Amino acid sequence: MPKRFPAINPKFPHVLHGGDYNPDQWARTPEVWDEDMRLLKLAGCNAMSVGIFAWSSLEPAEGQFEFGWLDTIMDKLADHGAFAVLATPSGSKPAWLSRTYPEVCRVNADGTRQAHGGRHNHCRTSPVYREKCRIINRKLASRYREHSALLVWHVSNEYNGGDCHCELCYAAFRKWLKVRYNNDLDRLNHAYWSSFWSHTFTDWQSIQPTDRGIHGLMLDWERFKTAQTIDFFQTEAEPLRELTPEIPVTTNFMTGSSTLDYWAFARAVDVVSWDSYPAWHETGDDTLEAARIALLHDINRSMKGGRPFMLMESVPSIPTRGRVKKRKRPGMHLLSSLQAVAHGSDTVQYFQWRKSRGCMEKFHGAVVDHAGHEHTREFREVAEVGRALARLDRVVGCGVDAEVALVLDWENEWALNSGARVYLGDNVKYRQDCLAHYRPFWNAGVSVDVIDQTCDLGAYRLVVAPMVYMLRPGFADKLAQYIEAGGTALMTYWSAVVDQSDLCFLGGVPGNGLRQVFGVWEEESQSYFPHESVEVAMADNNGLEMRGSYKAVDTCSVVHPEGCKVLATFAGDYFAGSPALTVNRHGKGKAYYLAGRAEDAFLEAFYRAQIKQLSLTRAIGIELPEGVSAQARGDDTGQYVFLMNFNDAPAKLELDAAYTDLLTGGKVAASLTLAPYGTMVLSK
Ligand code: GLA
Ligand code: ZN
Repeated sequence: MPKRFPAINPKFPHVLHGGDYNPDQWARTPEVWDEDMRLLKLAGCNAMSVGIFAWSSLEPAEGQFEFGWLDTIMDKLADHGAFAVLATPSGSKPAWLSRTYPEVCRVNADGTRQAHGGRHNHCRTSPVYREKCRIINRKLASRYREHSALLVWHVSNEYNGGDCHCELCYAAFRKWLKVRYNNDLDRLNHAYWSSFWSHTFTDWQSIQPTDRGIHGLMLDWERFKTAQTIDFFQTEAEPLRELTPEIPVTTNFMTGSSTLDYWAFARAVDVVSWDSYPAWHETGDDTLEAARIALLHDINRSMKGGRPFMLMESVPSIPTRGRVKKRKRPGMHLLSSLQAVAHGSDTVQYFQWRKSRGCMEKFHGAVVDHAGHEHTREFREVAEVGRALARLDRVVGCGVDAEVALVLDWENEWALNSGARVYLGDNVKYRQDCLAHYRPFWNAGVSVDVIDQTCDLGAYRLVVAPMVYMLRPGFADKLAQYIEAGGTALMTYWSAVVDQSDLCFLGGVPGNGLRQVFGVWEEESQSYFPHESVEVAMADNNGLEMRGSYKAVDTCSVVHPEGCKVLATFAGDYFAGSPALTVNRHGKGKAYYLAGRAEDAFLEAFYRAQIKQLSLTRAIGIELPEGVSAQARGDDTGQYVFLMNFNDAPAKLELDAAYTDLLTGGKVAASLTLAPYGTMVLSK
């Protein structure tokens, strides 16, 4: 039975709907503010993210604060039954701040300081910037703590892992290293294997993160930037938490990006939120894109133990990203909005509410166009989402029951993209690999938690660990114990190769005891060009009902069985006959090892067999047509199945029971046709 969680803010137990709202851009024409209120009622919006880039309107000169306009907006929202997801303004700094205190601007690797401009580019160490943020955040919190419109704190905007090479950051980095290496420079030198190319450090002061060749150092720099960003966030959150302890605090993650370790960050926020910008109709394969976004939604849900997250930003129609910037086709807006809810979001929010008249994002999709009225397709489709969400109160707080865990780990990704890339080249493809292993579950309507190496494995029936190249402390033991206790796991090529410092394990791969658990020794691997492939031949009686042959691409490893059973072998190249898929009985469980990057058809058949053998729960007990996704959320009072057709064509389904559609309240026919990009929310 999936768990039920409290609403994001229990004072409003409904799905939040709204968007980034910048009334400060329209201060010269306050009649626009009244029009905003009329329109947000029409669009079914109830939660507006206010003040994200408003610092220069809130504090036009140092120490001179102007809250009048925000008071008016907060009151107007409350008068119209809507709420504020109230932002702190640190995402972009006013010019006076950069001019008076140049240290707030980041420094490039060559020592030059960045000019004022852009956004998301402040030094995360600068005591002045921290102090200025603390002051304005405290003012915001003390002014609006009692305001009925205050619902959630939106701290800053899209913190990122960009470098700042200023002396303040370097000093903080060295301090962080001293803690990590217990003040022992020799320990650090060993971890970095720094005698290679004579890079041994003889004093802490000489350490600077500019040498991409010292992989351990660069990994630590990435870790430091995450730690320092979290520390910065905590500084920002401190006055908010002190003055408004009951208001949840979040900051919008960019889960698709690899620059910050969001797993570490998630521990610091009350609720996870993220900004989702799929490239619909751009890649030639909306189904693959839908699976990619589903995986990202699942990370956001998994990051706080299954607790519903917030879709903080999405675009009503045209994005700034993408090659040709396709508008969403009719139906896609409701579909992609409900996809987030299906995977655990309790909100659908946009960038942006109203198009700005000038600057970077004046053409970016918005609920309200420059035309200024509600008679646009974009507005109508947003209003349709508003009506749909209003019918989903029962889903708020519902959890997802996942028996499968996919391990996608940020630190491992950093290591793969630095250390392993030197030899694996373009074939690293870590995120694509994770997606390929996720896709069969998405196709089958089986829920997946996407976890990192720090998470518990105990609750899962199947753990999928593609390319766990770098083992973080404790993961190998945890995986071994999980299998021993009866769990099933799959690990692939390029796993358990290095430790947390990117130092290679000695004594054979997979290292750290996993060689015994999986019963294999991986001697070497070969990399391939895109036009090359190696045949994989299934062994007879492989127990998976897989027959014939498949293809492996990009990378294949030469593996020696050490007590395992060989289920498939490579049938090409110089290592023909060596194992491609093995299984080892370890304790009460099963440890599968995949030695080459197998094509989708192989993974589909392999995971189908696992779903069957482990009797994994599916959202709905029917075969789903290609491109149709089913995801379930529920609690002890009900189960809600989101049926989503990502095809630009109708899809026919035969249902297994009698359902009603929550979106219409009507009964659903047993023989059902989902419209192109059609969505339904079934309830028994
Ligand atoms: C990001 C930012 C927004 C906006 C959107 C759209 O997610 O947070 O301010 O720039 O992208 O491009
Ligand atoms: Zn700095």
